[in-house]
Amino acid sequence: MRPPRSPAPAAALLALAVALALASAAAARHTYATVPPPAERADEEVRRMYAAWKSEHGRPRGNCDLAGGEEEDRLRLEVFRDNLRYIDAHNAEADAGLHSFRLGLTPFADLTVEEYRGRVLGFRGRRSAARRAGSTRYLRRRRDQLPDDVDWRQLGAVTEVKNQEQCGGCWAFSAVAAMEGINSIVTGNLISLSEQEVIDCDSQDGGCNGGIMQNAFQFVINNGGIDTEADYPFTGTDGTCDANRVNEKVVTIDNFVDVATNNETALQEAVASQPVSVAIDAAGRAFQHYHSGIFNGMCGTRLDHGVTAVGYGSENGRDFWIVKNSWSDGWGEGGYIRMARNVPSPRGKCGIAMDASYPVKYSSNSNPAARAAMAVLEMVVA
Ligand SMILES: *[C@@H]1O[C@H](CO)[C@@H](O)[C@H](O)[C@H]1NC(C)=O
Repeated sequence: MRPPRSPAPAAALLALAVALALASAAAARHTYATVPPPAERADEEVRRMYAAWKSEHGRPRGNCDLAGGEEEDRLRLEVFRDNLRYIDAHNAEADAGLHSFRLGLTPFADLTVEEYRGRVLGFRGRRSAARRAGSTRYLRRRRDQLPDDVDWRQLGAVTEVKNQEQCGGCWAFSAVAAMEGINSIVTGNLISLSEQEVIDCDSQDGGCNGGIMQNAFQFVINNGGIDTEADYPFTGTDGTCDANRVNEKVVTIDNFVDVATNNETALQEAVASQPVSVAIDAAGRAFQHYHSGIFNGMCGTRLDHGVTAVGYGSENGRDFWIVKNSWSDGWGEGGYIRMARNVPSPRGKCGIAMDASYPVKYSSNSNPAARAAMAVLEMVVA
């Protein structure tokens, strides 16, 4: 039998509930009150900033915009205003020490996050074919002490930052940057190579609709080389494969290797040796507006973007990867992003350790006999 309810415990419970509610409200208030959102910018200021941003980054609008130009511009201004609000709120938190990176007005400041995703991300996800693991290439290095810092830009193995524009060809830019790197390391010549050739001629990939870096390496291996950027420049759209220029085999590679997955130490070994193609999840809003610092913002691990790890290091006890992007030098730190390294998840920040790969090159571009001999050697060693 249930004892009759006494009023006293009920009152005590109610008091407790009220106290808890107040305490959690206070806690919630405390959380948000730490960094109050900055004051809303005046409309005039936002318009001025938008005009300044457009003159720096604004895309020349295509024909379709001529029809509704003013309407479109009004819409863009509102998207810009909303992004600016988001950027200001983040940077106020960064000022208070809550983030290790800052946001800013990137070339994507007038795009919603959905538009941004649709426009620039073009990595297609893992291929189903077997992985190319088991290389003996870095056995010696494994026993060595890895350097604390590596920056292939300072070692002359990285070309200028490029711009994929509205083409989902990030995978081609990623693979080409890795090939430019190994070619420079092996031959001593830094030569800017052709993304457009890979976009036009690699039938395993989808050109501006996306692709994967390993297929790009395989294309260059099968083709017997790749042309220069100067001879086969980027157009920003899918084209037909140029039969003459695809035969300009200026730089060759001999093989490619997949880095052991989900292991940032294995990735560090590879990056200590050469620039490495990596796939990341770049779909987050913080990534869209990244300006500077060590990125440790929100992102998942649904790989949708191909970039190139060109070094690593540490700053104030925070480890980072130096990552070359293909969104012009107006995004991030002159076109680069430093992404948190040695994070708790073995997948790495934004999945950077999930699908890394690099091209292998044995010798100079003009000596196919030496290349063949090295290829046989590596097979014997493996
Ligand atoms: C990660 O890679 C390093 C270097 O290759 C290796 O020593 C280590 O055993 C790997 N860790 C795991 C969990 O596989």
